[in-house]
Amino acid sequence: MNPVSDEDELDVPGARGPISAAVHALLAGDRQIDWPDIESADPYGEDLHLALHNCYELAYRGFTSVDADMEWDLELLELRARMEKHFESALRRDVPGGADLAAELETLVTEPAEAAGISEFLRTEGEWWHIREYFAHRSIYHHKEADPYIWAVPRLRGQAKAALVAVEYDEFGAGRAERVHARLFAELLAGAGLNSGYLHYLNQVPAPMLALVNMMSLFGLHRSLRGALVGHFATVEITSPPGSRRMVQALRRLDADPACVLFYTEHVEADAVHEQIMRRDVLGDLLRREPQLTESVVFGIQVTNLLEDRFEQHVLHDNWRAARTSLREPLPDPDAPARPPVGAAD
Ligand SMILES: [Fe+2]
Ligand SMILES: [Fe+2]
Repeated sequence: MNPVSDEDELDVPGARGPISAAVHALLAGDRQIDWPDIESADPYGEDLHLALHNCYELAYRGFTSVDADMEWDLELLELRARMEKHFESALRRDVPGGADLAAELETLVTEPAEAAGISEFLRTEGEWWHIREYFAHRSIYHHKEADPYIWAVPRLRGQAKAALVAVEYDEFGAGRAERVHARLFAELLAGAGLNSGYLHYLNQVPAPMLALVNMMSLFGLHRSLRGALVGHFATVEITSPPGSRRMVQALRRLDADPACVLFYTEHVEADAVHEQIMRRDVLGDLLRREPQLTESVVFGIQVTNLLEDRFEQHVLHDNWRAARTSLREPLPDPDAPARPPVGAAD
């Protein structure tokens, strides 16, 4: 098993076009930037999503070389606001909308008779290099697992607030650092022979996963989108147990390190409870108090599904089915065994 890294060293990743280059320049202290044309950029594209990701990162742990005060830099905030507007407009255009929450929740709990998707592919036919790529993609979220949901707390009241914090308490290890889900994921990465450093794979991970993480930050940082944030969080908890169960089967089939399996067994158990709390106590109470947020909650659910579908399309259908890497460049050592030889590292 690789050593688990707790380092916080993160460099600003290389630009992917004019927007991320402008953000890069501002982060480096250069005030003479070429203001990019954001409104005609691809709202799901590499350039916009890396740029947006890097603006948001300033609200999380940030970059080693960038002063913490840049979080509130007016020019960066202006660029960020224009990117957010462009992204959110595309999302509103691409989901059906509406206020039928019961129908949306029903769709989430109804698994198609024949499960499909990435976890089913990994369960039945995926190889070890697929698993490693999947971990690298998801690491962009799991390194900050559950962090964006905390922004909902000051915006909620009553039972919804108490219950959301109860779920977050579990996500953050119930008072034990070694049980924090982000830590369990770092151990999963190490168990898979991957680098567990914070956002280590940012340069390799393409836009479909960055868009998912950016969606969480967008919802989290805007009080006006608190309904969407809760809708998104509920979607994650409701859909997690069956997907996690398939991942457990995939990893056992490939004889993966126990640390890899543990992350998903933990989620099979915890999320079965979280699902109930999110539905009954968080969504139920929130919408009793603020029924006008129903459309926002539905929007959060639909956007999560849209971006997960786009992620699956990119990873599984456009690349893995064509025997290609789904990352911007393949991971080193694709033939590494599921269980690294004892004593090889550590
Ligand atoms: Fe979790
Ligand atoms: Fe959970």
